[in-house]
Amino acid sequence: DDAVDRAVAAFRAGEPVCIHDAADREGETDIVYPAHGVTPDAVRRMRNDAGGLVCVALPDQVADAFDLPFMQEELDHPLAADHELGYDERSSFSLTVNHRDTFTGIPDDDRALTITKLAEAATDPDGFPFVDEFRAPGHVHLLRAAPGLLDHRLGHTELGIALAEESEVAPAVVVCEMLDDETGGALTPADARAYADREGIPYVEGADLVARLG
Ligand code: 5RP
Ligand code: CA
Ligand code: ZN
Repeated sequence: DDAVDRAVAAFRAGEPVCIHDAADREGETDIVYPAHGVTPDAVRRMRNDAGGLVCVALPDQVADAFDLPFMQEELDHPLAADHELGYDERSSFSLTVNHRDTFTGIPDDDRALTITKLAEAATDPDGFPFVDEFRAPGHVHLLRAAPGLLDHRLGHTELGIALAEESEVAPAVVVCEMLDDETGGALTPADARAYADREGIPYVEGADLVARLG
């Protein structure tokens, strides 16, 4: 079994994978969880071991059903007029949300609740009462995947959603960048792979996911 098989098996079991996008893109490795499997301990792992931004990616059709726009299009501010990125055509950021049953929204159990409810919402885009259940702004960043997934964009957003679809789990994934505590920069692929091996987490290259699922 190769890295993609191990990643699919992990997702089916509700467990995380590490995904490196590409050296000529962000050059970052994210810890990626199927959203339905996220516990408070998983949130703790993301903030302690990964250290980046905890985000939930949703497919384009799901985001559409809940009227979730790209953040850039909603911001009526000169800062958003020229959204120049060095590594892609556009960011996948949408709104930030909290589940309404959270208090501040930031503790591990609050974020785990918001995240698992997002997974529930994503399994029933036409029936789930999104506005009744969530508020914005919140402490979980939503990401909106490109409509054609890997045909249109090769971000962690699309790589994660493509893996969720292949694994037949709820189409909602949590991504969090792995940062190096010494340098403050992105964890190198070698260090990310060593972490993954130590923790028994599959490590997969974006290119391998694209080759199999694209
Ligand atoms: C949100 C991000 C991350 O890079 C995340 O991986 C999603 O973005 P992308 O799809 O562009 O890789 O910026 O913290
Ligand atoms: Ca990024
Ligand atoms: Zn990324």
